[in-house]
Amino acid sequence: MKARIAMILAASLLTLDAVADEPRFKWSYDTLRLIASGDPARGEAVAKEHKCSKCHGDTGISDEDDTPSIAGQARSYQFKQLMDYKHSTRDEKTMTKRARKLTPEEMADLSAFYEAQAPEQPPGREPHKLATEGDKSRLLLSCDVCHGKDGVGYGMESPALAGQKPVYFLDTMMAFREGDRENDAYGRMRFIANQLTEDEIKALAAYYSMPPRPKE
Ligand code: HEC
Ligand code: HEC
Repeated sequence: MKARIAMILAASLLTLDAVADEPRFKWSYDTLRLIASGDPARGEAVAKEHKCSKCHGDTGISDEDDTPSIAGQARSYQFKQLMDYKHSTRDEKTMTKRARKLTPEEMADLSAFYEAQAPEQPPGREPHKLATEGDKSRLLLSCDVCHGKDGVGYGMESPALAGQKPVYFLDTMMAFREGDRENDAYGRMRFIANQLTEDEIKALAAYYSMPPRPKE
């Protein structure tokens, strides 16, 4: 049932416009076709050329706790983020500078390459109630509904959360909460992050993610 609702939601997001390369990202058939045509081998070469590994690691597992891992992340989610950075819809200087140098085809290839890499496996933990059940009193859906069971990601837009860096997870949730990150369509994540306390966000970060690296 949940899956069906999400499918219908996803389908209703589609427009007949050309490839999304404008400030407000829209899903279109052309965009989906372009993303599907992404080639991991070409993506690997583009990643080398643009030195993505400097921050995201050779296979998309980042070395820094404040830099997201992108190994295994859904290609459609990555493609949207790269477009959002390019147009500063997601405002972050480091990535905007890099995304501006990429063509839509290169973005599709890069996203295909990182999707094909094995994600970091978070250690098994007790599920967090907000993740599996949500909280009716605050109109909060469970994270699972959109991000998939155990946070493995779902559909075109909802990223995998499993294996993400906790420092990055906390930072990006606080950015949704403060409205500094506002590239989520319909403000869904801003609404959710707003209802959560910082302690709840930290607990969710710990549940989904890899522990921070010990200081050397
Ligand atoms: C200098 C370091 C650096 C380089 C080089 C870099 N990135 Fe990033 N990347 C980051 C940081 C930091 C973030 C998180 C920024 C934020 O909070 O919005 C990020 C975010 C992302 C995201 C969004 C991840 C998510 O979970 O939302 C994607 C996708 C991405 N980068 C892909 C790439 C690709 C592809 C390249 C090469 C073309 C690249 N990055 C090069 C540092 C870097
Ligand atoms: C109604 C659907 C929905 C629900 C419920 C939901 N999310 Fe999200 N979430 C999304 C979408 C869609 C995005 C991607 C937004 C974008 O395009 O950048 C997202 C993005 C995120 C990100 C950013 C990931 C990254 O790599 O940058 C985090 C973290 C996150 N969600 C955590 C949560 C947590 C924790 C919960 C439960 C308390 C939750 N979400 C519930 C739809 C949802």
